[in-house]
Amino acid sequence: MSALKLHRIVAAVCALQMLLWLGSGLALSLISEDYLDSGAFRTERTAPNSDAAKPIPPGALPGDVLEIKMDYLLERPVYRLKLASGNSSLWADTLSPLVLSDDALKQIAAASISAPLTDTIDYVAGDSIGFPDIARVALFKAQTARDTRVLLDADSGAVLAHKDQGSDLKELLLMLHFMDYAPGNGIGFNAWPIRLFALLTLMMVLSGLVSLYQKWQAGYFRLSSGKSATTDLIVEDCQGRELGRFAPRASLLDTINADGDKLPTHCGGGGSCGMCALMFIENPPTPTAADIDKLGQRVEAGMRLACQHGHCGGRVRLISKGQERFWQKHAPSEPAFDKNV
Ligand code: FES
Repeated sequence: MSALKLHRIVAAVCALQMLLWLGSGLALSLISEDYLDSGAFRTERTAPNSDAAKPIPPGALPGDVLEIKMDYLLERPVYRLKLASGNSSLWADTLSPLVLSDDALKQIAAASISAPLTDTIDYVAGDSIGFPDIARVALFKAQTARDTRVLLDADSGAVLAHKDQGSDLKELLLMLHFMDYAPGNGIGFNAWPIRLFALLTLMMVLSGLVSLYQKWQAGYFRLSSGKSATTDLIVEDCQGRELGRFAPRASLLDTINADGDKLPTHCGGGGSCGMCALMFIENPPTPTAADIDKLGQRVEAGMRLACQHGHCGGRVRLISKGQERFWQKHAPSEPAFDKNV
């Protein structure tokens, strides 16, 4: 693959992500914070009297306990135990293990929101909805116009989040902005898609530099001081009849098309359409990677892409009837073609 082709592909990918980054950033700054905030129906928790909590007798704790925190659920105190082997909870007023029924989970969810809940309860795996550390998430729907949902940790009863249309949109925009495309990536500046994008950007710069160097080698960007650079370019039709003489410009394509299109192009000089190919009658310039990629063996006969070479003077010939028709259509003042040939 030529450096120019690689440069184009990588630049297209980078440009797409850049547009997503700009668009999502702009949207995040323009959309009202109130719309993106899913906490409109959220209620404040009030802690119960912790006097009801019993002390845990010595020796009743598992050996691998790392931390104990006091919490509360349904107006009852709860001990949260962080263990080396995982987490568990105890009702602090009875010291019995915390086991939550569907009804209990619904009561917890209902207490966290000021809108009524529907009767449905769904259980989903935590890692499927952005909570990789939670085994089961209990999901309740609230009767609001914003499709509000309450998400609980089904084992501990902790309220994980309230979500609605606004927060869904915010998550989508943040995902696009931070390239958080891999599940469980989290929002951060060191996620692998960001590293990949940085690598692609580096490839774009390097392939662009290589492409520039190849163009410079092909005669682009040279000051018109040398003999070859000041020589006119003579263009012939397929039968060798002179169509015109052209003063030097940056590239052969620019030289011919300076006063209006005479040579067709689809890629605008990018070296990919092959429509600007010409045959050098003598002293063809060194073929570029784009010449070889597009023209193959024909470069040995002297064919070159006009867009890939700086002005080098000399005599060139059109290679197809299509080019002749285009020339005649766009440069009617040039000598008429023999339509019988
Ligand atoms: S203009 Fe398309 S290859 Fe030259």
